[in-house]
Amino acid sequence: MHKTPLLDQLESGPWPSFVKDLKRVAARKPQTADLLGVLERSYKDKITHWKHGGIVGVLGYGSGIIGRYTDLPDEFPGVEHFHTIRVNHPSAWMYTTKALRELCDIWDEHGSSVLNMHGSTGDIIFLGTRTEELEPCFAKLTAKGWDLGGSGSAFRSPSCCVGPARCEWAMYDTLEACYELTQEFQFDLHRPSYPYKYKLKLSGCPNDCVAAVARADCSVIGVWKDDIRIDQSAVQAYAGGELKPRGGATKWDKLDIQKDVVELCPTQCMSWDGKTLKINNRECNHCMHCINLMPQALRPGTERGAAFLLGSHAPILEGAQMSWVIVPFFEMEKPFDYLKELMTNIAEWWSEHGKNRERVGELILRLGMRSLLEAIGVEPAPQQVRIPRANPFFFWHQSDFDAEAKGRRYDTRQGFVR
Ligand code: HEM
Ligand code: HEM
Ligand code: SF4
Ligand code: SF4
Repeated sequence: MHKTPLLDQLESGPWPSFVKDLKRVAARKPQTADLLGVLERSYKDKITHWKHGGIVGVLGYGSGIIGRYTDLPDEFPGVEHFHTIRVNHPSAWMYTTKALRELCDIWDEHGSSVLNMHGSTGDIIFLGTRTEELEPCFAKLTAKGWDLGGSGSAFRSPSCCVGPARCEWAMYDTLEACYELTQEFQFDLHRPSYPYKYKLKLSGCPNDCVAAVARADCSVIGVWKDDIRIDQSAVQAYAGGELKPRGGATKWDKLDIQKDVVELCPTQCMSWDGKTLKINNRECNHCMHCINLMPQALRPGTERGAAFLLGSHAPILEGAQMSWVIVPFFEMEKPFDYLKELMTNIAEWWSEHGKNRERVGELILRLGMRSLLEAIGVEPAPQQVRIPRANPFFFWHQSDFDAEAKGRRYDTRQGFVR
């Protein structure tokens, strides 16, 4: 075991320490002992001792394994190779303990025993193994029904919130959709053929528990179209303190309906006269605030589906961006044909026009929403407007003149009416 005085300091705080965990593994794994050694050296030298690796992988796949080597292989032979394997996770990370044991056994045998449950892509991350261990490890994983996830310029392993398995707010079956789309886009997942990475995350409602709007190029978020259902007597019970806000998950035992609910509605579409709660549903933007506070009084509507958003990513130069709405509402029923077709069309447009390492959201900013909408055959809708225009020029296209001449007009509810 290497001496690690700098790392040891990280064990002294009140928090769980990765150093403590790694030392426990290092007692039986020389690779992990060298991992601690090389990290200590980096802290001392104030420079990383990892090189970005060449291409490593398993036969037939271009994705799923991220090559890493140290630049000090003589000193730390255990991390001469230290590749990361991404293993595709089940929908909403539902495991049996048997499955978890299988994974751990395989990784004890073929790698460093260090796991990351889970990476931000969603996958199970196996951290650190040698090139010659990749094929045998992959063979054992596939024999147990596991598959590699996506990495590189590929479709990344989709992930979803727990949805209808445990949550009353799920507007569609996130688990089924995640599974179906993983199957549908197998080729794109395993063989990097896009300009850059492309992530898909599915949340069952606007609470967005997988943070799809911030973390996935393609975010599918459950939403309802009709009116929020109100039980007025339950609203009274919240006002009187018989029902606790947020199912008892706050320190307050009583809601002030006016201050806590009505005045915090972002679109100011609610009113309360002390007896009746009213909602102007045309103005509601489905933020979930009121429903989260009073789950026994308010429930989402029954006409359910999802909104489709594109574009979130965290580029180093421009800073983080969130996804924005492309299709405000569509039905999310198995086999999810509409979504599959939409995603395929988007990938085609992006592959055709995207520069190397340009995310789909950046391409929309560069070529404009119009170019995207025309290519994928989606009608313009007010919800797609991300920021008010700051540019006085408008470029009319011949097709606009032709359509207007034929009688096209814009209706605020129906969009373009021909
Ligand atoms: C104090 C120590 C560490 C901190 C605070 C830290 C923090 C993080 C955080 C916040 C993420 C993003 C996780 C997510 O959003 O799901 C992450 C991802 C990751 N970490 Fe660490 N980490 C630490 C140590 C390590 C070590 C020692 C390794 C490798 C031996 C490692 C390898 C990774 C990898 C490969 C990912 C990306 C996985 C993925 O998203 O695909 N981290 N880490
Ligand atoms: C100067 C040092 C490094 C820089 C500037 C760097 C930069 C980056 C960048 C920009 C990404 C893409 C992040 C994203 O857009 O999500 C990335 C991904 C990643 N890096 Fe590094 N990195 C460095 C060192 C390392 C080291 C030392 C390791 C491991 C030993 C590592 C492991 C990874 C992994 C596992 C990913 C995810 C790859 C993927 O998702 O396909 N990086 N890195
Ligand atoms: S995103 Fe919505 S449906 Fe999914 S787990 Fe969270 S609250 Fe439930
Ligand atoms: S869901 Fe949000 S926007 Fe809609 S009524 Fe409730 S607080 Fe207002």
